[in-house]
Amino acid sequence: MNKTIEKIVSLCKRRGFVFQSSDIYGGFSAVYDYGPLGVELKNNISQLWWKEMTQVHENIVGLDSGILMHPKIWEASGHIGAFNDPLVDCKQCKSRFRADEFSKEYQKLIWKEVKCPKCGTTGELTDPRQFNLMFKTSVGPVEESGTEAFLRPETAQGIYVNYQLVQGAMRMKVPFGIAQIGKAFRNEIIARNFIFRTREFEQMEMQYFVKPGKDDDSLIDWKNKRLKFYHQKLGVSKSKLRFHEHKNEELAHYAKEAWDIEYEFPFGWSEIEGIHNRTDFDLRRHQEFSGKNLLYFDQPNNDKFLPYIIETSAGLNRMLLTVLSDAYWEDSENNRIVMKIDPRIAPVKAVICPLVKKDGLPEKARKIVDQLKPLYRVIYDQQGSIGKRYYRQDEAGTPFGITVDHQSLEDDTVTIRHRDTQKQERVSSEQILNVLKDNI
Ligand code: GAP
Repeated sequence: MNKTIEKIVSLCKRRGFVFQSSDIYGGFSAVYDYGPLGVELKNNISQLWWKEMTQVHENIVGLDSGILMHPKIWEASGHIGAFNDPLVDCKQCKSRFRADEFSKEYQKLIWKEVKCPKCGTTGELTDPRQFNLMFKTSVGPVEESGTEAFLRPETAQGIYVNYQLVQGAMRMKVPFGIAQIGKAFRNEIIARNFIFRTREFEQMEMQYFVKPGKDDDSLIDWKNKRLKFYHQKLGVSKSKLRFHEHKNEELAHYAKEAWDIEYEFPFGWSEIEGIHNRTDFDLRRHQEFSGKNLLYFDQPNNDKFLPYIIETSAGLNRMLLTVLSDAYWEDSENNRIVMKIDPRIAPVKAVICPLVKKDGLPEKARKIVDQLKPLYRVIYDQQGSIGKRYYRQDEAGTPFGITVDHQSLEDDTVTIRHRDTQKQERVSSEQILNVLKDNI
């Protein structure tokens, strides 16, 4: 099977997972809209992450901070000084590229000798220039007199500046964590590979506050937990996941140690989540810039310190692309495309179909919909042949097809078709709920 990103993009549009933003105006680069199935899948993934962080871990609590924050935060965090991408322009064809996409050691390249990947001209690429990725805006009614503000490029800073309030309000004791899901914005120079790198995206970040000296062990612990989440909770193939450690030249300005969880996308191995040891960098900087004492008081040991932070930082949209890429399967034997999405996160859990549109079958099928819909997202479909209806739902990733036929009227049974194997079983109406419960 030749799994390409183009095929996934096309299925996403056809079935209502993801659309290019502003489509009727010819599109708006690097922004995407999530259709009916996309938003269900995205919500299911983020709810799973939220539950894993804040429900399974008693010492992790949630937060929802603003997208706009005090501009000084971005000075303290280093984003104003260091959140730059190196950028080269082709003077011939006017295309723009990230220098680090030519080579990780792009500083060593002699740009006069490098060929433009777009037009093929050699000697027309400029030397790299630094380009800040933050979106600027102004707060207040008049632009000139308003305060310059930024759309947050990561959710993490909202957690750091609230850490003491959360700790006090919830009486948290180190080690403890704060989790947040929210939008982030980056004016990416090169946005490509569909929803992999976009200018508006969602992050799911968790900042874990530990006593200095406990940070190395905590990082190992979180690396293991986060990798497991992908294959045990999202059902992503284990063989397509790996770790990549950041070498010195790759390390962000705040990090002592950093690991990426990578997935093998159709366009190659790429980062989906970062696990970073940020030390006390952020709290120290916010303490310095705000003038507020951010020390944690360890009462039992009568000790005061700035906690170290282990961060797990995932992109929700990238996680969704991981799930979609992993699920895409061309079943050539049966000439169908199947999205083998794990039933726990599938956008729709079951389609309920009357075999024909008459003889009381639609009414019986509707009753089943009414019985299931308070518990699960299910749909009713009576349009087209039963085969076509199943194949439509295979592409939508719906794990179960429940069909009501004439026998159903006689003995109150239905058939349940399983998406991946196409196997069918006959069960009584009462059993439907159990079959779904066992699998979801
Ligand atoms: N707080 C740390 C931080 O933001 P990052 O490596 O820059 O670290 C973390 O981003 C995650 O956010 C990435 O692993 C990725 O999943 C997601 N992400 C970053 N930039 C993105 C973009 N332009 N589009 C989509 N997701 C992005």
